[in-house]
Amino acid sequence: MNIQALLTEKVSQAMIAVGAPADCEPQVRQSARPQFGDYQANGVMAIAKKLGMPPRQLAEQLLEKLDLTGIAEKVEIAGPGFINIFLARDWLQLQIDSALSSPRLGIPQEKPQTIVIDYSAPNVAKEMHVGHVRSTIIGDAAARTLGFLGHKVIRANHVGDWGTQFGMLIAFLEKKQNENHEEIALADLENFYREAKRHYDEDPEFAERARRYVVKLQGGDEYCRKMWKCLVDITMAQNQKVYDRLNVTLQRDDVMGESLYNAMLPGIVSDLKAKGLAVEDDGATVVYLDEFKNKEGEPMGVIIQKKDGGYLYTTTDIACAKYRYETLHADRILYYIDSRQHQHLMQAWTIVRKAGYVPTSVPLEHHAFGMMLGKDGKPFKTRAGGTIRLSDLLDEAVSRARTLIADKNPDMSDSELSQMAEVVGIGAVKYADLSKSRTTDYIFDWDLMLAFEGNTAPYMQYAYTRVISVFRKAGIDENSVQGAVIIGEPREASLAARLLQFEETLLQVARDGTPHLMCAYLYDLAGLFSSFYEHCPILAAAEEATRNSRLKLALLTAKTLKLGLDMLGIRTLERM
Ligand code: ARG
Repeated sequence: MNIQALLTEKVSQAMIAVGAPADCEPQVRQSARPQFGDYQANGVMAIAKKLGMPPRQLAEQLLEKLDLTGIAEKVEIAGPGFINIFLARDWLQLQIDSALSSPRLGIPQEKPQTIVIDYSAPNVAKEMHVGHVRSTIIGDAAARTLGFLGHKVIRANHVGDWGTQFGMLIAFLEKKQNENHEEIALADLENFYREAKRHYDEDPEFAERARRYVVKLQGGDEYCRKMWKCLVDITMAQNQKVYDRLNVTLQRDDVMGESLYNAMLPGIVSDLKAKGLAVEDDGATVVYLDEFKNKEGEPMGVIIQKKDGGYLYTTTDIACAKYRYETLHADRILYYIDSRQHQHLMQAWTIVRKAGYVPTSVPLEHHAFGMMLGKDGKPFKTRAGGTIRLSDLLDEAVSRARTLIADKNPDMSDSELSQMAEVVGIGAVKYADLSKSRTTDYIFDWDLMLAFEGNTAPYMQYAYTRVISVFRKAGIDENSVQGAVIIGEPREASLAARLLQFEETLLQVARDGTPHLMCAYLYDLAGLFSSFYEHCPILAAAEEATRNSRLKLALLTAKTLKLGLDMLGIRTLERM
């Protein structure tokens, strides 16, 4: 149930009835405090100003026209002209029942759009490292949420699979194959890359071969193509293991790497020239942008083709945006990329818009995030100063979770312990990232993320198992609870209203691409449930009708927590 939309509609009608313009903004918001009701309409002051009326007087007239029969039990004017709306308990009861009777918890699908989400994007022949974690995890939560709301989500894994380094990598792969005469497993991609580079720097003959291979690869040579594909396959097979372990929905087919746009690049350069946007400058092709200034305060030059004919990261991103609109028919394009690439994207998109490759009706959104920092506030590194391999990070998370769980449950079997440690450990890493407002840098702190208190995965996962344990302990089948929801206590009313705000949270995450809002919502919901659980006995309720009603509130809480965590890609357990 989208209560905000319903109330916005009602308040708007009343506003228009008292003379407000048709495009007036009722500004209906969830109230921050219970004494202000469940919702507030804050738009009266602005409209009163426009109409040249005292705001309280306008508010009074508005209340006469505002028809919330059956929805609200009280509507009040507060302060200079705020309108506080208190939802009616019998209305809440009906909404809870209707949410429970639907597999989607009463959440309708939105008008479907084609939405491309660019996330993860590791580089070929390189290990995925902590720098790719944030994009992968946050982007996947956005993909899940938008998919649930009925959109056609295209997951675009913009893998770094092209560039001059591939000559060197192919030459090295060939060398390895000749030495081993068997399929090689690039178990350690990082080493592979480093060794290839060392050969390139130290062995002139190798370097010469590498340079020949780049040219051949670009010319579509069959052998080089095959070797290139082998490198991509090995890398992506390795990354797929990480995705699966992370419970990230990306698949092999979602790879749309840089190479995909290669054939478009010459056409883009000549088109930008023909449109007068690009010019030749000292042999290179450059687009000068007034929107960006260089150090001298002059329009910044963005190179799209180098003197030697090579194309750049920017050229590829120009083509990529064009492709996503023209070929994939995107209505909206989201990029989950770290904030250091912001200027790069803005330059590429300024050119894209000027050239008319993507109309302004199709948003290009950079969902930037900061870096992952260690506890010392410096970029997150191993003790020796190297980048942390993602798989090592996840192993550590699981082993730490295992120790914590084993301490709490000394009698747990080994296999149960392993399974639980995986769910809690991986969940903790993901949730820590998801729950932060993603534009800022974030400090990676094992103790905080694995705490069973606070806005963490273990706390949320535990909250879920606690709710469903009510059913298990009493041997009650969740689906057999009869009777209607009856709201008596204020704590039941607060829990019910918050449960019904799940849809508003989903819509906000979908609109702003910000999964941390879902974490905040679920954390708040878990807190409200705790307080309800403490003060409103469920199984020990005196009346059977009260007991059943409370079981239903518990059931909707459990389902909401589970679905919400699922939108975040966080697994739950039935017991902990
Ligand atoms: N592969 C790049 C990196 O590792 C990220 C690519 C992001 N996507 C894009 N369309 N530029 O930094």
